[in-house]
Amino acid sequence: MKAVNKLAESFPGIGEAIREQTIESLFQGVVDMCEGALMVDHESRITWIDDKYKALLGVDDRVIGRVVEDVIPKSLMRRVVETAKPILLDLMEFGDRSFVVLRLPLKRPDGSVKGAVGFVLYDRFQYLQPIMSKFAMLRDELASAQRQLAGQRRAKYTFSQFLGTSEVVREVKRTARRAAQFDTTVLLLGETGTGKELLAHAIHAASSRADKPFVAINLAAIPETLMESEFFGVAPGAYTGADRRGREGKFVLAEGGTLFLDEIGDMPLAVQAKLLRALQEREIEPLGSNQVIKADVRVIAATSRDMAALLKERAFRPDLYYRLNVLPITLPPLRHRIEDIQDICESLLERVSQKTFAPQRELAPSAIAAFHAYSWPGNVRELCNVLERMAALSDSPMLTAEDVAMVLPGAEQTAAATPDRLDDRATANSLHQVVAEAERAAIAEALRRAKGVKAEAARLLGISRANLYDKLTGYGMLTR
Ligand SMILES: Nc1ncnc2c1ncn2[C@@H]1O[C@H](COP(=O)(O)OP(=O)(O)OP(=O)(O)O)[C@@H](O)[C@H]1O
Ligand SMILES: [Mg+2]
Repeated sequence: MKAVNKLAESFPGIGEAIREQTIESLFQGVVDMCEGALMVDHESRITWIDDKYKALLGVDDRVIGRVVEDVIPKSLMRRVVETAKPILLDLMEFGDRSFVVLRLPLKRPDGSVKGAVGFVLYDRFQYLQPIMSKFAMLRDELASAQRQLAGQRRAKYTFSQFLGTSEVVREVKRTARRAAQFDTTVLLLGETGTGKELLAHAIHAASSRADKPFVAINLAAIPETLMESEFFGVAPGAYTGADRRGREGKFVLAEGGTLFLDEIGDMPLAVQAKLLRALQEREIEPLGSNQVIKADVRVIAATSRDMAALLKERAFRPDLYYRLNVLPITLPPLRHRIEDIQDICESLLERVSQKTFAPQRELAPSAIAAFHAYSWPGNVRELCNVLERMAALSDSPMLTAEDVAMVLPGAEQTAAATPDRLDDRATANSLHQVVAEAERAAIAEALRRAKGVKAEAARLLGISRANLYDKLTGYGMLTR
């Protein structure tokens, strides 16, 4: 047998006769076990193919001498020849079928490669049922994880979830709706908790890109050293170790959709330069690759920082700022639209009751008055938290100013006694007043820490409950 002679040369060092005999029986055994076998030379040309493989592929002897890929397009025999390394178990596609194959290099006595031999172990999967069903299960799991991820990348909010009916909020929503129809870059400005992220989602959801991903990147949350790879990704093999396989950057993940650049005021200057280039060229280059990739993303940026001040301090590049500030939308703080408070509260209390399966609470006029007087530095986010805490602490269907005082001590006199003003006042006010204010602040703080539980607050203050009630009444902190 010609094939055996070729093989025999590859196993030097055994006595000639025994060698040929052993190899022949070994080889024949393997060939019998297989559904096909084939050999190629050092140029990956077919030198031998057995009858079973010919039948399997539907070819005849005319394939001898042809380059293997001409006959089996997905063949990896050339890789075995070129690397001198075997591929011990692999799936190979041929037309609409999959074969399990084993490929070995054939070496000369000096170790150089003179060709390769390939065996088709099975052409039917049932032999490999256990391993194949595991493979199928893992493939399904991967597909479902990918679907879930795509779901997460969809916008979470729409315009209807952006609460408020004040004229200023209606104007914000009008502008944002218009922005959604175009591909313009939007810059969302406003204090913390005013709903910038919510609005970014809503703009995406109302745009023609709604079916594509919404990908957010929070620049305040990423260490500077990782920002570039977060944006642009890492090419496979750029680093050794865990990242060897490469990673896609957010620009690529957002392809066709919206990239939300949150907290842009916190972007280091070096990263600003790279982002500017990407936005100008609409092209990105993953770290460690020399390839540029086209990026089709709509950018929405947001910040709660004072951009004018950052520009003045030269902490933000003006050229990048102009690029992002194409359509600015400023979200007003809650204290500038107190007429929205009641509306927002009602919706939120409805949501709380749905979440907890409890009847919906109402706000007494005294509570609304306390809310109107408060400055809401944390804006709608803070209002949400306050309402949730009030609802959790009280069983009453009507929430009053007293409930407000439990979670927002001193809300009624926000404008007056903030601790940092205490020192200034000490010089101008009588000792009695200063002591009274300090006492009131201590009580408020104890109530906050005790989550409104008065017995606990009294314990923290080292006074009796009765004494605490007296003081609360005295300071008007118990009023309804
Ligand atoms: N107008 C609004 N209607 C309903 N919910 C709102 C509104 N504004 C803010 N919220 C809620 O307040 C919370 C904070 O909103 P969001 O994260 O959008 O604020 P932000 O402006 O991005 O704040 P930050 O600057 O702190 O990131 C969210 O739970 C959001 O649903
Ligand atoms: Mg935000």
